[in-house]
Amino acid sequence: MADKQAKLELGGESHDFPVLEGTCGPDVVDIRKMYGTTGKFTYDPGYKSTASCESALTYIDGQEGVLLHRGYPIGQLAEKSSFMEVSYLLLNGELPSSDELDDFTYTITRHTMLHDQMRQFYQGFRRDAHPMAIMCGVVGALSAFYHDSTDISDPEHRKISSHRLIAKMPTIAAMAYKYSVGQPFLYPDNSLSYTGNFLRMTFGVPAEEYEVIPEVESAMDKIFILHADHEQNASTSTVRLAGSSGANPFACISAGIACLWGPAHGGANEAALNMLREIGTPDRIPHYIERAKDKNDPFRLMGFGHRVYKNYDPRAAVMQKTVREVFEALNVKDPVFETALQLEEIALNDDYFREKKLFPNVDFYSGIILSAIGFPTTMFTALFALARTVGWVAQWNEMISDPGQVIGRPRQLYTGPTQRDYVPLDQR
Ligand code: SDX
Repeated sequence: MADKQAKLELGGESHDFPVLEGTCGPDVVDIRKMYGTTGKFTYDPGYKSTASCESALTYIDGQEGVLLHRGYPIGQLAEKSSFMEVSYLLLNGELPSSDELDDFTYTITRHTMLHDQMRQFYQGFRRDAHPMAIMCGVVGALSAFYHDSTDISDPEHRKISSHRLIAKMPTIAAMAYKYSVGQPFLYPDNSLSYTGNFLRMTFGVPAEEYEVIPEVESAMDKIFILHADHEQNASTSTVRLAGSSGANPFACISAGIACLWGPAHGGANEAALNMLREIGTPDRIPHYIERAKDKNDPFRLMGFGHRVYKNYDPRAAVMQKTVREVFEALNVKDPVFETALQLEEIALNDDYFREKKLFPNVDFYSGIILSAIGFPTTMFTALFALARTVGWVAQWNEMISDPGQVIGRPRQLYTGPTQRDYVPLDQR
């Protein structure tokens, strides 16, 4: 950390605050002592100028459209790595050796089964319950079954609960889908890969062998990699804040799932495909572009824009390429892809989007791929949550293992009534 200082002149007094440097990205002004020395708070709703923590997991350069996981560019990981390997990297900080990867994959594979009593939770939901409602409930309920891994002060407990969460998310998500279509749940098959096992539990039926199509398995694995982690986004910040109180990891991840569900965040993939289907044909694009630009119209281009990326989201570039790979492998065509390509082209050449630096984000193309593979739109955000669990868990571990971590407790700018006396009912 550098010894640079930031000077704040306030009320005729001068205050110095240390400026801390990271390995890359913006420096931060360390204001931890600001209230104590000035009696003033900073004010940053939405945290647009606030670093909430120190982290070594993921780095985003929004201006350049760069995303690194432990220093490795997302494009290289998506093309050359696997979701299991990226999960190991996020959790442990380095790419695994062959033996390390085998051991990690073996461990995860053997945690994929759910406590059999948890199957009964699904019976309590309506068949048309949104899968994210089920994910919130069932993941939170894991803390009722795995008491032997909820002591967050014990590194072994943290490790086991981390592995359980990563391993069981595919099973929970697949069961949510099966329940919605009235088909029987399939137990995990340990002979398959993490992603192949998920595809079989989702689309397989007891009556016949399920054949994992390699190109689909590869595309799904790539989609998981692209969603694994993303710095201090809203749902990750939710997990960190929940974890800072000492809540157990299952409850923290359930909180992250709830936050991810919002259409401004992880729910955008479902909303983006619904929007593209509503637009339908390219001739209707100009009308929707005008609606997106109209301040009086709440409509926004879903899958476009980002708090951090003011350039093309590198994940969207990989996603667009993956659409073509899946269409070719499955010999399918979906006219909505052509609509998406033309919408992107028109938007990127429109002054409104260029001035506001609005580019396609990770959610713009992902739904087209997932739909081609066979997922209903309601499953899209559940798949995002499945993949993001490793990021949430890695960020949670990083926070909990920091001896200096304290409970998160923001303050406020109070604009309510000053103190006043109670008025009895008969005098109002
Ligand atoms: C994810 O944080 C993460 O890293 C998230 C994520 C992850 O991996 O965890 O990357 C995943 O959530 C991706 C984002 C998915 N959401 C969407 O695609 C929903 C549509 N996008 C927007 O709602 C918006 O772009 C946000 C929420 C993503 C970002 O909002 P910001 O940073 O708060 O920006 P803003 O709302 O202040 O917008 C700035 C301007 C506004 O206009 P002005 O008030 O300045 O005139 O740009 C406009 C907005 O109206 N704008 C859009 C727009 N997004 C922003 N106008 C039309 N369409 C859009 N999509």
